[in-house]
Amino acid sequence: MLNLLARTTFLGGVIVLAAYHNANFKSTNSARQECVLYRDVQNLTLIGTRFRSDLESTCVCRCELIKIGLWTDALGHLEIPTMQFYNGDPNNLTFLENVRECVSEIPPNLDLCYRAFKYYKCYVSYFGDVNLDLPRFVPSTDLQQQQTVVDCARILQISHQDLRSIAATPLLESTQSKCLLRCFLIRQGFFSDAAGPNRTRLFAQFATVNDERSFRYSFGKCYQRLQDESWDRCSFAARIVTDCLSYTSVALEQITAAIGAVAHAMAIADKVGNFTVGKEFDALLVDTSVGPINRYKLPSALTEHKSPDELLLEQLQKFVYVGDDRNIVRVFVAGQQVK
Ligand SMILES: *[C@@H]1O[C@H](CO)[C@@H](O)[C@H](O)[C@H]1NC(C)=O
Ligand SMILES: *[C@@H]1O[C@H](CO)[C@@H](O)[C@H](O)[C@H]1NC(C)=O
Ligand SMILES: *[C@@H]1O[C@H](CO)[C@@H](O)[C@H](O)[C@H]1NC(C)=O
Ligand SMILES: *[C@@H]1O[C@H](CO)[C@@H](O)[C@H](O)[C@H]1NC(C)=O
Repeated sequence: MLNLLARTTFLGGVIVLAAYHNANFKSTNSARQECVLYRDVQNLTLIGTRFRSDLESTCVCRCELIKIGLWTDALGHLEIPTMQFYNGDPNNLTFLENVRECVSEIPPNLDLCYRAFKYYKCYVSYFGDVNLDLPRFVPSTDLQQQQTVVDCARILQISHQDLRSIAATPLLESTQSKCLLRCFLIRQGFFSDAAGPNRTRLFAQFATVNDERSFRYSFGKCYQRLQDESWDRCSFAARIVTDCLSYTSVALEQITAAIGAVAHAMAIADKVGNFTVGKEFDALLVDTSVGPINRYKLPSALTEHKSPDELLLEQLQKFVYVGDDRNIVRVFVAGQQVK
């Protein structure tokens, strides 16, 4: 997966750091269009039909929610990122109670697509006038965060060895680790030297308690203190994470985990990571013709001028966004078949 993501990531030099970042923006409608493409390009009427409860439509719905960051199969719906879609009176939280009540009535053992669809109906019915075409910040996934660590290590020329010691020691200990944190914040779109931190995105990505007002308040106080102290650039950015985002936020945990995962992947690169003879065989065998993603036709826009490898990547993308465990026919871990 890291390789797959590397192909689509812009690898810039230090100079472009301030101007470009990997933050992801999507509108509900653009996500939906991508999902309809993944499933059945012949029938574009699905783009406009949001409340049909057949398998096809509910799976498009789940795909859309995954793409805009409001749903994961493991955790179900994610309330905090969902808040970005609410255009109503921010002081009136009645709608939120209504959504919670509606969501609590969804039976837990429903089919994944149908469960996502039920949640979708709950939030659409209470969130009022949602602008379907307005692109919004989509919180990054673990893999995207790990890719940012890989990019930053490359940009800052941090060796595999150094990355491992960064992962093993507290983050404020070395200049390298503080600069890595700064690069991470910038490339994920959370911070820039010109505009400072983006509190909206930090809240959507890292908050653990759905209370933006107190998040902003405690963050603001801490940030003010940092500005009054005279830190160098890297220490300043790193302290945003270690000091200002340690309260009701999982920023430090998420970033530490991403650095740890990349360091670990580099440490075991001689044992896993590709299918070279002698390496341990970790693999999923995916059947894209069964379960929720059958009837998939690759539209010509996705197949033209593509090599067999690239076509395979398209199939993988399709699995990532609209497949689930029904499409996984075999699982191998360290050479042993476990499913
Ligand atoms: C496309 O889907 C709509 C709604 O599901 C259905 O009414 C229509 O018959 C379908 N059209 C084709 C060509 O399959
Ligand atoms: C709060 O919003 C709900 C709808 O979500 C509405 O029925 C209610 O009247 C609002 N309350 C106030 C005080 O505006
Ligand atoms: C912060 O992020 C939000 C959501 O992506 C965006 O709408 C807003 O313009 C950003 N604010 C600044 C100051 O860049
Ligand atoms: C497999 O990974 C090793 C690193 O352990 C690398 O040297 C080799 O080029 C890779 N092979 C392929 C085919 O990607």
